[in-house]
Amino acid sequence: MDAEAKKRLIERSFKEIEEKKALFNNNPENSTQYFEKLKDLITFEGNLDLSNYRKKYLERRFLHRLSFLNIESYKKYIDFAKDNPKEILEMKDSLTIHTTEWFRDKTPFELLRKNILPRILKTKKLAADKTFRIFSAPCSSGQEPYTLAMILDDIRRELGITTPIEIYGCDVEPKIVEKAKDGKYFAQYMKGIPVEFVDRYFTPLPDDWFEIKHSIKRMVKFFVQNLFKPLPSWIKSMDVILCRNLLIYIDRDHQLQVIQNLSKILRKNGYLMLGKTESLLILNTKTDFIAENAREHLYQYTP
Ligand SMILES: C[S@@+](CC[C@H](N)C(=O)[O-])C[C@H]1O[C@@H](n2cnc3c(N)ncnc32)[C@H](O)[C@@H]1O
Repeated sequence: MDAEAKKRLIERSFKEIEEKKALFNNNPENSTQYFEKLKDLITFEGNLDLSNYRKKYLERRFLHRLSFLNIESYKKYIDFAKDNPKEILEMKDSLTIHTTEWFRDKTPFELLRKNILPRILKTKKLAADKTFRIFSAPCSSGQEPYTLAMILDDIRRELGITTPIEIYGCDVEPKIVEKAKDGKYFAQYMKGIPVEFVDRYFTPLPDDWFEIKHSIKRMVKFFVQNLFKPLPSWIKSMDVILCRNLLIYIDRDHQLQVIQNLSKILRKNGYLMLGKTESLLILNTKTDFIAENAREHLYQYTP
């Protein structure tokens, strides 16, 4: 297929999507009234509080599930879900996205590995508090905090230093926190980890599974935490916090709440890293952060 044909194909498929969207929006069975009914159904039958989620995000996820099932309206979907209670669990799953990756987006972790983390680790030697602390909030099934643990161990080896390191990971979903603690991953989901790290930090298990080595596991403390609520008093003096791919799903008031809660446990001049499509600018208010590296969404806390 030549370039012109590819371009035509892409344009045609975009046009089809736009037409489908228009059809969907013009259907009275997709009015705000039915949107709210569907929200209530998931909230009460699925026991999932959707009040913090952005409307646009919910609309996108609902539409995604409806298209998958080939159902053209919220009203029809509500009838379908009432007759198929398992469907509510499916919808719930598709809303609480746990998607995560090792070294997610690559370049933010390159910046941390090459520049930020070695610099902070070196300064710890002369600091009164010699422990380096980093927090992955939220951490989903553990790939992000374990990525940090491998990177930090690698830096310590390279620099020949023994700086004490504490890594924390939290998530609101108890089941996903258990998975993170377990630290076992199927081979198919190991994409993104450098080969030498797989070799150094993982033990192969039967049936194509891998387990993160104990030396790395014990560097991370996992706990269940709703980031809309204040953090426990034992978590404090963080040097770096990663809050990646949570803010995009939630409304502005809750975004602010999360950032305020995290600020309280961040050291002065500590760092906050957000996800690839997230920025403090979306809060539309003055914060105590300055951009250290805008491209990688890394901010320094300067209260
Ligand atoms: C897309 S994952 C992001 C994981 C990781 N930070 C990353 O970027 O790969 C989003 C996670 O946020 C969690 N989450 C949603 N609401 C939360 C809340 N209020 N407090 C803590 N975690 C929450 C979800 O359970 C999910 O595991």
